Formats: sequence, C-alpha cells, structure tokens
Amino acid sequence: MAGKAEFIWLDGRIVPWAEATIHVASEAVIRAASVFEGVRGYGNAEHDELYIFRNADHLRRLRQSARMLHMQIPYSDEDLTAAFRELLRRNGFRNDVHFRPTVYFGEGDSGASYLPDEIRTGMFVIAVKRPGGKALTEGVAAGTSTWRRNSDIAMPSRIKAAGNYHNSRLAHVEARRNGYGAALMLNAAGKVAEGPAACFMMVRQGRVITPPVTADILESITRETLIELIRDELGLEVQEREIDRTEVYMAEEAFFCGSGAEVTPMVSLDRYDLGDGKVGALTKRIQRLYFDVAEGRVEKYRHWLTPVYRGNT
Ligand SMILES: Cc1ncc(COP(=O)(O)O)c(C=O)c1O
Repeated sequence: MAGKAEFIWLDGRIVPWAEATIHVASEAVIRAASVFEGVRGYGNAEHDELYIFRNADHLRRLRQSARMLHMQIPYSDEDLTAAFRELLRRNGFRNDVHFRPTVYFGEGDSGASYLPDEIRTGMFVIAVKRPGGKALTEGVAAGTSTWRRNSDIAMPSRIKAAGNYHNSRLAHVEARRNGYGAALMLNAAGKVAEGPAACFMMVRQGRVITPPVTADILESITRETLIELIRDELGLEVQEREIDRTEVYMAEEAFFCGSGAEVTPMVSLDRYDLGDGKVGALTKRIQRLYFDVAEGRVEKYRHWLTPVYRGNT
C-alpha cells in the first residue's frame, strides 16, 4: 500500500496507523516544532534482507537538528535502531521503504519558547512503501525558483526542521504551477543552493560540481555518499564550490540527490536543455552505483547498511 502502513511507532510503542495521534495543542501542530529524518530501506532478494541505508548518519543528523533547536531526544541510538527495525518488521516491509523518525514538542500552554525541561518531547516514526518514480529514468524538467533558500542567518537549512519545509513548499508549488517537475533554489547570495528536498550536482567537462555545505543547504547524506563513490569508485573529480545559475544552463548533465529523490536526473532548467536534454550517461552510471551500494551488492560499503531481519540488535 503506497502512502500508508499498518503500524506506526509512537512514543515508544507500536500502534495501529489510525491510533497514532497527538494533541492539536501540541507545539508540533501549532508551531511546527519538530525535527525529522527521511531514511530509506532497500531490499536485497539474494540476501533475503531489507537494509536501512546509513542509519547511524541519519541518527547523528537528527541529534544535531534537535540540539540546534534545544530539543532533547528521549531515546538512545540503540533504542531507536531497535525501534526502526521492529517497526519495519511489523509492517512486513521487504523493500522500497521510506521512514521518517520525527522528534516533536508536545502540548504547551502559552506562546513561550520552551526550554527542553519545560515541555514533553515525543517521538514518532512513520514508515511507508515508496518505490522510486518514473523521474528516476525519465528525469525532470526544473525551474529556478523565485523563492530563495532559507539562510543560515535566519532559519538554517542545515537543520532538518519541519518549519523549513514551508520554504521548500513555496518553491515546489511554484514550480508545479509553472509546469515544471522540480525547483532549483538559489540562496540569498544568488548562488545555486539545492532543491526543495534534495541536493544538487552537475557535470561540466567531465567534472562533477556541487555547492558547498556553506551554500545554505541541508548537509545531505546522499550528497556525501555520492562524493565518496564518484571519487573512489569512478575516479572522477568532485568540486565543492559555488555555482552560478548560468553554469547550470551550460552543464552537460545535472541531477538531484537525496534519500527520497535518490539520484534524479535533471534534463532541463528554465527550458534550457542540459546537454542533449536527455538523462546523462554519467548520471546513469552514478545512479546505478548508488543503487548497487544501497541494495547491498557492494561488499566494501556494507558498513553503511543495517539489516532489519537478521539478528536481534
Ligand atoms: C532540503 C533537503 N535537501 C537535501 C536533502 C537530501 O538529504 P539526504 O541525502 O540526507 O536525504 C533533503 C532530504 O532528503 C532535503 O529535504
């Protein structure tokens, strides 16, 4: 079933989907006081296993987001990993799963900005089936957003907070209304930042180029993964540097990357074709490599995978 599952993990318990509710007076509902992660699990039929991809890195980032917003996560990494595995097992997922561990503030009684010991901090995990869409093979036509990416001096994009996704939503809805499949966002300095829910990479003269983590982007785990794989497995140079909008028009290839987006090719920007306007050959190679690693076919990178069904931990 797409978009829904039998069970949700809520505040330490696995409950049926319909019973996973929190109060409307919670700060999570009223002021979007929550931080979260988007994590994927990949099936490997040969191993008869479902692997969580880069679980430890997602937990680390979740803790960083929470710390920045003065939220305390009331569970250890071991507890949470056990919870994720149990939830995925109980739902019977064997492949193509996407889950969102979310830390939230509960009910408040005023407009105060709460300190961690003044409010209940809860947590839930929603896991759903989410197979990759046709954009993976066909690519997307993107439009440059008129909205700028959240700035580090106002509400840092580095923090994966629910509130940041209003900035994302403005850009994505604008893109859709203008007939594009995706948005590319610039930062306040007018340099390329990222997509509303994915980081950005482009290829120019055989080199892969991506904005630095100081460009008002989320410090993407997929971006980090690809930088390592492109350098070490494909032997290509990856530059982390500022990117001008017009450079994208001149790129031979480009793609978005993220846990949800995986490696989604971009075939045009603002109706300028990138290269020949088709999914790029290098992009396809990078995509294949990413799936080989995430689906457990490359021994060297097995340490990034957490098995769901094997063992008890
Ligand atoms: C705004 C934004 N940028 C980038 C990413 C990619 O991050 P990651 O690769 O860690 O999933 C995401 C989430 O997928 C995101 O929401």
